[in-house]
Amino acid sequence: MIRSVLRGTGSALPRNCVTNAQLAERVDTSDDWIVERTGIRQRYIAGEGETTSSLAIEAARRALEAAGVEASEIGLIVLATATPDYTFPATATQVQQALGCRGGVAFDVQAVCSGFLYAMATADSLLRTGMAKKALVIGAETFSRILDWDDRTTCVLFGDGAGAVVLEAQDVAEDGPGILATRLHADGEHCDLLHVDGGPSSTGTVGKLRMKGREVFRHAVVNLAEVLREVLADVDMGIQAVDWVVPHQANARILDATARKLGLPAERVVVTVDQHANTSAASVPLALDVATRDGRIKPGDLVMFEAMGGGFTWGASLVRM
Ligand code: ACO
Repeated sequence: MIRSVLRGTGSALPRNCVTNAQLAERVDTSDDWIVERTGIRQRYIAGEGETTSSLAIEAARRALEAAGVEASEIGLIVLATATPDYTFPATATQVQQALGCRGGVAFDVQAVCSGFLYAMATADSLLRTGMAKKALVIGAETFSRILDWDDRTTCVLFGDGAGAVVLEAQDVAEDGPGILATRLHADGEHCDLLHVDGGPSSTGTVGKLRMKGREVFRHAVVNLAEVLREVLADVDMGIQAVDWVVPHQANARILDATARKLGLPAERVVVTVDQHANTSAASVPLALDVATRDGRIKPGDLVMFEAMGGGFTWGASLVRM
């Protein structure tokens, strides 16, 4: 059967690391409050010359190198972001140009924090139809540029970064590697709970992120536990079969509550929220790259990705490495 196989991962972070203590010098907050409520200890913030595309390009180069794939072999680039360099062209085409990939298909996907899951599902579908043989799937964000730095309830939660994977359509055995199952959801009913209050067609401005954190938290735990169960049911497996869960890194308490709801041991959850904070669409591929490079995730492992974000959008995907 034809499956999309994950060949390599890469990631990139801005140069500037900002600790909670440094943030507390400019906003009315404290290291204790942020660590206790979120688990976040630091985040990376893009400086001059660092943009969503520059981070995406760096992450993509590292993923290509890890996969042993030349840029010229890539026929499809799907890039998830809610913070593109420009309204258009798509950031994916900037990556295509910088890498020197000629031809093929390149476009952006916008599903906020679930963006990487949506992008991977899109690439997986196109690879399995034969539209391309090898794809780059990237999550890249500079949320620091849409934060209200006077709003302590949101500005402490986010960071910038990018992660990328190379997928290849391969003819594999039933128990071989690749994306085994994916479920995506969206429910526009709650779009006001997490949104940006501007855009080209409404205000003509970029806008700032607004969030009712407590309500988002409640929806996140319920939706994530449900979608994980759906994916496991699709492949007729229990949570004990999963070697690693690589979740969207929003808040350590969401990760703990979701793991508890599923009976998943905490040591099988990859956690990077303490280091990177919430990097939206970049968070899943960034955490995946960290856990792959430090040797935790190995070939043959069953890995579950999951995310939820503004919209609401949410989803999960089970991959054999
Ligand atoms: N520093 C100090 N105090 C703060 C800060 C801060 N940075 N932010 C808020 N507070 C205060 C509030 O003003 C409030 O004070 P009050 O009681 O005097 O009014 C108090 O702390 C409690 O505020 P709550 O908002 O009720 O705190 P809560 O325990 O809900 O934690 C948080 C807030 C961390 C935002 C939590 O709700 C959360 O993580 N929600 C999930 C949101 C999220 O992660 N969204 C990301 C995108 S969606 C996703 O990725 C799943």
